[in-house]
Amino acid sequence: MLREVTAVRYLEPLRTGGSVPGVVEADDLGTYVLKFTGSAQGRKALVAEVVVGELARRLGLRVPELVLAHFDPAVGAHEPHQEVQDLLRRSAGLNLGMDYLPGARDVTPDTELDVDPVEAGEIVWLDALTANVDRTVHSSNLMVWPTFGVHEPKLWLIDHGAALVFHHRWDAASVLDTAEKAYDVRHHALGRYGPDVRRADAKLAPLVTEDLLREITAEVPDAWLADEPGFDGPDELRAAYVTYLAARARASAAWLPTDFPSRAELDAEAERRARATEAARPAWLKRVPNLHGKPDPRPAKRYP
Ligand SMILES: Nc1ncnc2c1ncn2[C@@H]1O[C@H](COP(=O)(O)OP(=O)(O)O)[C@@H](O)[C@H]1O
Ligand SMILES: [Mg+2]
Repeated sequence: MLREVTAVRYLEPLRTGGSVPGVVEADDLGTYVLKFTGSAQGRKALVAEVVVGELARRLGLRVPELVLAHFDPAVGAHEPHQEVQDLLRRSAGLNLGMDYLPGARDVTPDTELDVDPVEAGEIVWLDALTANVDRTVHSSNLMVWPTFGVHEPKLWLIDHGAALVFHHRWDAASVLDTAEKAYDVRHHALGRYGPDVRRADAKLAPLVTEDLLREITAEVPDAWLADEPGFDGPDELRAAYVTYLAARARASAAWLPTDFPSRAELDAEAERRARATEAARPAWLKRVPNLHGKPDPRPAKRYP
């Protein structure tokens, strides 16, 4: 089961993402990224974080530890921004925490990265299974860590809040039909690394059993599953996730992504974007060097 912690100090909002997660310290002396129930993305995003994050972990991919975090808005009363205050006030109670990786960096198109096609294939396969629309070149939700010390930097998966798109349409009579729906990989963050999705499919599809999915959905707190129209309580809703994902795993031949863009297409797209960005710069800005799109030359220096 996911561990439970209590937030004791709100450190700062993380504004690079759309949901404005917060960095907090908890009563176990750990530091966590908190995804709030009161964010615009709502409770379903947290359900997706648990289901997909824990599934990824069971399939052997790297995901920082997830915890259930009790949060009292009084802990962040010093936060000066009104919109953050509103978010914290809406989020009293149980929220999702992810172990904070100190010094980790987001993967961007400029990150110099050597990704093994086998690992890339497994990540793309997971994203295709769970219909994750938020692992794109410009919003990778992948981090590189550690960025210092003796260990090799590794890829870590974060932010699965935009996966499981089907759970926004439970009311559709044909929701199960979408279990065979193809997954659009054209803008996937790892498309350029030659993902070996066939190998991933052979290894991972048999592991996604109903038993495994039942264990994983049991980790989602009842409070995030209550009141879904058309379902008689959290357990019935859990069963719907199990049925859908098991059906999709069985149907992998129908959605297995293979049409990755070629290297030349990727280079042409990057070139087109760079030209569009340059053209959009106002004249006065053209006099100063364009540092955007180049790797940040400064060393990482945000340690909590
Ligand atoms: N576990 C973590 N360790 C370190 N930084 C993180 C972690 N999780 C998220 N971040 C940072 O916060 C940003 C926003 O988090 P994310 O989970 O992607 O939220 P959102 O749902 O708002 O996109 C990430 O892009 C990353 O820079
Ligand atoms: Mg994100």
